[in-house]
Amino acid sequence: MFKKRINKIPQHIGIIMDGNGRWASTQALPRNMGHKEGINAVDRTIDALIKFGVKVVSFFAFSTENWKRSEEEINGIFNLVRDFLHSKRNNFKERGVKITTIGDLTPFPEDLKTQLALTKEETKDNDKLIVNLALNYGGRSDITRSVNRLIAEGVKEVTEQDILDNLDTKSLPEPDFVIRTSGEERISNFMLYQMAYSELYFPKVLWPNFNERHLRKALKVYSKRNRRFGGIK
Ligand code: IPE
Ligand code: IPE
Ligand code: MG
Repeated sequence: MFKKRINKIPQHIGIIMDGNGRWASTQALPRNMGHKEGINAVDRTIDALIKFGVKVVSFFAFSTENWKRSEEEINGIFNLVRDFLHSKRNNFKERGVKITTIGDLTPFPEDLKTQLALTKEETKDNDKLIVNLALNYGGRSDITRSVNRLIAEGVKEVTEQDILDNLDTKSLPEPDFVIRTSGEERISNFMLYQMAYSELYFPKVLWPNFNERHLRKALKVYSKRNRRFGGIK
């Protein structure tokens, strides 16, 4: 119904989910309750993205800098992600959701790695929506690891395309649109190389409150943008 008024749907949306901690403090709750509500917002947003016909979403869930937080908060986030994958695995299949990840998973606890591997394997043939989770992800780390892969192959001089082809996102299109919630206007080391021409949008809403209405507003904003890629239109 509302699709009529949104004439341009981004193929790939990046979402920097910010504001979980602030949401929790407005409710006088511990920070991890904010992350719990944040997971519910992810699930809601998956439904809304499918409804609008978006094909790929990348959720920034844990950055290479988030290790600076307390052990309690970090473990809380890991447990929430693990339980989310475990409880939703069949439901992802029903919804046609394919789970992928970017970022270096090596330092994660074994139980989380197991859930990630199982979920990726069991959803790999789904094609309605790719839900790409950025976990222990940093744009600089991604570029550095890409270049190191090329060096290991013995490449003497790299092209821009070589770097792109060896990023964690190599099988995904570049994000057309990046939304960061909570009103902060920065990238915080998200897909630096891939975002060269992404449209950016910074709504005030705290991530746990994000819903279909906010996504619809975001998509309306995007459909009014005029992407020129350095050319003239
Ligand atoms: C984003 O919410 C979630 C993660 C970074 C894991 P925050 O936890 O950064 O929330 P604020 O910024 O403290 O409100
Ligand atoms: C960015 O949020 C990282 C994620 C959403 C996972 P942060 O809350 O960690 O970013 P800064 O520290 O405010 O830049
Ligand atoms: Mg934050």
